[in-house]
Amino acid sequence: MKMSLKMPHSTLSSSSESDSDVDGLQVEEEHDSDDDDDGSDGDYEDGPPQKKSKPAHPQIPNNMASSGKSMENQSANAKSEGSYSKFAAKMMAKMGHKEGMGLGKFGQGRVGIVEASTQRGRRGLGLHIPGLEPSKDVDWDPAEEEIDLDEKATWLPHCELAVPDIETLRGWMTTGPKKRTIDDENQFCQEETLKSILQCKSVFDNLEPEEMRRARTRSNPYETIRGAFFLNRAAMKMANIDAVLDFMFTSPKHSDGRPVVGPNEILYFADICAGPGGFSEYILWRTKGESKGFGMTLKGANDFKLEDFFAGPGEMFEPHYGVRGLDGDGDIFKPDNQAAFISFVKENTDGLGVHFVMADGGFSVDGEENIQEILSKQLYLCQCLVAISILRPGGHFMCKLFDLFTSFSVGLVYLMYRIFDRVSLFKPVTSRPANSERYIICRSLRQDMEPVRQYMHEVNLNLNKLLVPTSTLDISLIVPNKILTEDDPFFAYICESNDSLGQKQVVGLRKIQAFAQNANLHETRQADIRIELLQRWKIPDELRKAPTKQNPKSRFDELIGDEKQDYISHPVEELTLESLREIKCAYDFRCIVAGAKASERIYILGLGRTHVFQRALKSSGNWKKMDDLRLELPTDTLIEAEIVQELKGEGTGQRKMTTLHVLDALFLVGKDVRNLHFNERMEKLRKFVKCVTKFTRNDLVRIVAPDVYRLEEISLIVGRLELRRAKGGHGTNQLCYIPQHSQEQRFFRPSGVYIIKTTKDPWTIQWSRSSQRKYFFNTRTNKSDFHCPPDSIASVRESKLKSYHWVWDEGIKLLDQQVCKEDDSKLSKIVVLDHIHRLLPQR
Ligand SMILES: C[S@@+](CC[C@H](N)C(=O)[O-])C[C@H]1O[C@@H](n2cnc3c(N)ncnc32)[C@H](O)[C@@H]1O
Repeated sequence: MKMSLKMPHSTLSSSSESDSDVDGLQVEEEHDSDDDDDGSDGDYEDGPPQKKSKPAHPQIPNNMASSGKSMENQSANAKSEGSYSKFAAKMMAKMGHKEGMGLGKFGQGRVGIVEASTQRGRRGLGLHIPGLEPSKDVDWDPAEEEIDLDEKATWLPHCELAVPDIETLRGWMTTGPKKRTIDDENQFCQEETLKSILQCKSVFDNLEPEEMRRARTRSNPYETIRGAFFLNRAAMKMANIDAVLDFMFTSPKHSDGRPVVGPNEILYFADICAGPGGFSEYILWRTKGESKGFGMTLKGANDFKLEDFFAGPGEMFEPHYGVRGLDGDGDIFKPDNQAAFISFVKENTDGLGVHFVMADGGFSVDGEENIQEILSKQLYLCQCLVAISILRPGGHFMCKLFDLFTSFSVGLVYLMYRIFDRVSLFKPVTSRPANSERYIICRSLRQDMEPVRQYMHEVNLNLNKLLVPTSTLDISLIVPNKILTEDDPFFAYICESNDSLGQKQVVGLRKIQAFAQNANLHETRQADIRIELLQRWKIPDELRKAPTKQNPKSRFDELIGDEKQDYISHPVEELTLESLREIKCAYDFRCIVAGAKASERIYILGLGRTHVFQRALKSSGNWKKMDDLRLELPTDTLIEAEIVQELKGEGTGQRKMTTLHVLDALFLVGKDVRNLHFNERMEKLRKFVKCVTKFTRNDLVRIVAPDVYRLEEISLIVGRLELRRAKGGHGTNQLCYIPQHSQEQRFFRPSGVYIIKTTKDPWTIQWSRSSQRKYFFNTRTNKSDFHCPPDSIASVRESKLKSYHWVWDEGIKLLDQQVCKEDDSKLSKIVVLDHIHRLLPQR
């Protein structure tokens, strides 16, 4: 759509918009996977829940703002009032029409032109809705609405008070009669604010939801931002909030500016009341393989849609629905669900909890929009409760709230103010101006918040008892009004927030009203605003694209680029006495325990979800879909691995588990790690494995990152060997390797040890007797360096070409108790360990 786009003045263009243009917008809306229209943000402006169709074509942009017809064309087609079009005049002349006369035998027909119908939608002919009568004369003054693209959150001052103890808090809870009215709740805003909001909303009581939606779409300056390339508009709200708050969620920093999450650490997050998951899709996209998310939401129509996470790796997001995990119902009100989800998150974050929690709960409040806040009180509470239960100290939280007029909700904000370092109430521009939605942003959870968590848990237990139809009672206060109103900075902040957001909402509602009445009004700044804001939020202006099924061979070639592929099918050399003698510096090598034959090593290419392919060493470039093993890997993941039968337990209870042992990493979620140091590759790999491991998914093959040893410490490997009864061992004790840090007490039968070169020729690592430390020595130039020179780092290729497999098969005795005859032609433990020992300085 071509529009005159001058900011800030030319707000509206009045065109003779035909009904077909409006219909055009309807077509556009059908392609919009608009989250709000499920009625879950429930405010009046959204109308009742509507089942929306998914984009018919994945490439249709969410932000498409045009019906395809230019406004100029329509203006040109429109006829001036009082005259007939050429075609109509010709037809009428044929029927004997004379200018100024009516048609009919005696010219008795109507002289004036029949006006185009102003009937809207399915509204009955002649029905007039007070305040919404169609009229071309209704105008909209752009000056009424403030458009500020430079959004800023205002923060409540830091609360210096200590967190109250549980006894004090229990004394704060007050029960009262159930209340279902809001119009007298003006303790935390000006009387006028509440009155205006309720009055403005009531205008729309009889308006068709579709009419409402169209007027809203045309009037909201930020409407065409939509979901950008994410699955819904919600994702863009998160993008908007994150960017305005200096990426405090996706890139958290300490107060001195240092990143909270180190390069090889995982950014953990949780997304609650969160289906279909647009927020998480945004986080996973922005953090690109650096984060792992956990989510809980109600099962059903609004469940997570991981298959629609086109932008970010859904493989790194794990839903959990409370009691019974994946089979649970996800209802956050239930204390048992809360407890199950909390332990799940804690267990998967090393007991620490997540770095941040997002909550966006909402449900349809059709017909009761004015009391949405009252109906949502338990949702507000439970989201805060679960969030603080899974956050680590210093963690951040954001949660959608609607109105904040009642003491109950304000009390909840107050509790957050007492346990977080800073709190803000913020409405991003992506949240439609005419609704009452806003977000509470809580920065840095305090260590001493436990009494508040316990108190909120108890409040929820009480709410579960009272919020049943048979009860006439409710919890009216969780913090006494006196405390809320006597904390001056807090009270002033809440009132100011309610008044300013309320005024904006009223303007938004009035604007929709004007646009509903006059179909010729247009918001001309939408396209410019969209471009400007996407830039500010660092969101590329791209189309939403469904991933296409890529050909593994061509994708592999694209990834590898012009690097020599000789190492891919290179067989790892078996360690012999001769090759052992080639090992001259122990410090140049690392070791990992092998669980399969070297010839069984495979490359695995992940192309998103279950599109995972494998290539055997000797396959001359053929990639085959991994159908026998179920794996889910993010797009552009390329690893080298072996399939190992691990064992767990003993005796008849012993279980065999097929696992994937990763031996090296080339690409992880699209990131090229080939040229990193082996240690660094392994760090990244460990992080990756943690992110994609889903303990809720027994159908997926477990992926394991190896234990890495220095060659000089190879005897530590021997120290982790044991003789155990193992399935398939014909009743005899078998040599087993017990991995480090294995929570599940898994073990496997080792096939030997891979000895991997991690220093690149001509560099080696030597021992400096004078400084008593290692240093890098260039055998060609004789240059030495205590710091790792970049050209001393062996890439994946160099490591692979200089690796050895010390094979442990029949005739090799590693443990004294092992009953076996040693084969002198094979490399024994003594020979290998002695050789390595001799390479080490005698300190
Ligand atoms: C507006 S949607 C969330 C949108 C989401 N943030 C996104 O980005 O796609 C509100 C969600 O709250 C969920 N919800 C409502 N009541 C809930 C409850 N009692 N327990 C868990 N989830 C709930 C709804 O099922 C819905 O998925």
